[in-house]
Formats: sequence, structure tokens, C-alpha cells
Amino acid sequence: MRVLIAYATHSGATLTLAEQMDRILGDLGHDVVLTDVREDPVPAEADAAIIGSAIRVESYEKPFLQWTAAHAQELAQRPVALFSCSGSAADPAKQGRQKATDAFLREAAFTPVAVRNFPGWVLMDRIPVHERVLLRSLRTPTGDFRDLDAVAAWTREVAPLLGA
Ligand SMILES: Cc1cc2nc3c(=O)[nH]c(=O)nc-3n(C[C@H](O)[C@H](O)[C@H](O)COP(=O)(O)O)c2cc1C
Repeated sequence: MRVLIAYATHSGATLTLAEQMDRILGDLGHDVVLTDVREDPVPAEADAAIIGSAIRVESYEKPFLQWTAAHAQELAQRPVALFSCSGSAADPAKQGRQKATDAFLREAAFTPVAVRNFPGWVLMDRIPVHERVLLRSLRTPTGDFRDLDAVAAWTREVAPLLGA
């Protein structure tokens, strides 16, 4: 089965999550294509897709929103799992909720078979200086909050839902 993993990242954490999904699906024997949405991958060339975006200022990345809108019909015609990567997903008080994901799902023309908000990283040396000032003013906690084991477990969980 051919699975497209399409992601949008700014500082790289979302890519590392997507790479973990790629490894797991590859180990399960699937033919995986891992692509940045800016390369404009074609969902119709895959049997299923995992799509994911970084979150900035409570929104998915603009190229992700543009790509999913442009390919909405193809995404609606095959199983799709959705993930996000953010700083606040590390906060237990949020209980896995993410405003940007809720907003995306309200507008989306397709219904994912699975949705998960994963924590990423907030690493000052990967962020342009003007954004560091913004993050410091927001008192955003810094660090690497990724849990690649949780990403692997979710990928194994969603594989059957994708038909994989
Ligand atoms: C300018 C800026 C704005 C951000 N805004 C949010 C936000 O609104 N909510 C959140 O949970 N995390 C926010 N973050 C944290 C990012 O979601 C986190 O760094 C994530 O790992 C980004 O994924 P990426 O490394 O793939 O770009 C922000 C980070 C930056 C640099």
C-alpha cells in the first residue's frame, strides 16, 4: 500500500515526527512517500495519507492550509490521518486539545480517520531573532518536548485505519 506523508514545518520538529512515521510504516512493509507540502505532493497518487502541520500563533502553517484546500477532494476520497506539532501540546492542562486543530477540522472538507496533537520543540537557536522576542514575551516554555515513542505508537494504531 502506498502512503503519502505530507508535512509543513518551520523549525524542523514536524519533519522529525513525520520521519518517525515513515520509519514505522516502512517497517510494516508499506511504500511511503515523505514530502514537504511545498513540493505539492499529489494525494491521488497514494492509497492513504498522513498529513501534519506545525502550529504557529494558533494556526496551522499557511502552505499546509493552501495545500489541503487545493487537494481537498482527493483527500476526501481516501483515508487520511491528521497530526499537529506544537509547543502547547506538551502542556497536560490542555488535555490533548489544540485550538488550531479544532479550527482546521471545522473548515476541512474531509474527515480524518484519526487526529493527534503532538508536542514538538521550542528551541531558541532554531528561531529567528524577532520571533525569539515574541516567544520570550509570551513566556513560552523552551525545550525539546517530542515523544517519538508516542509518535511510533500512534502510527501503528492508525496504520489499520488507513487500510495499511
Ligand atoms: C513564532 C512562533 C509561534 C508559535 N506559536 C505557537 C502557538 O500558538 N501554539 C503552540 O502550541 N505552539 C506555538 N509555537 C511552538 C511551535 O509550535 C513549536 O516550536 C513546534 O515544534 C513547531 O514545529 P516546527 O519545528 O515543525 O516548525 C510557536 C513557535 C514560534 C517560533
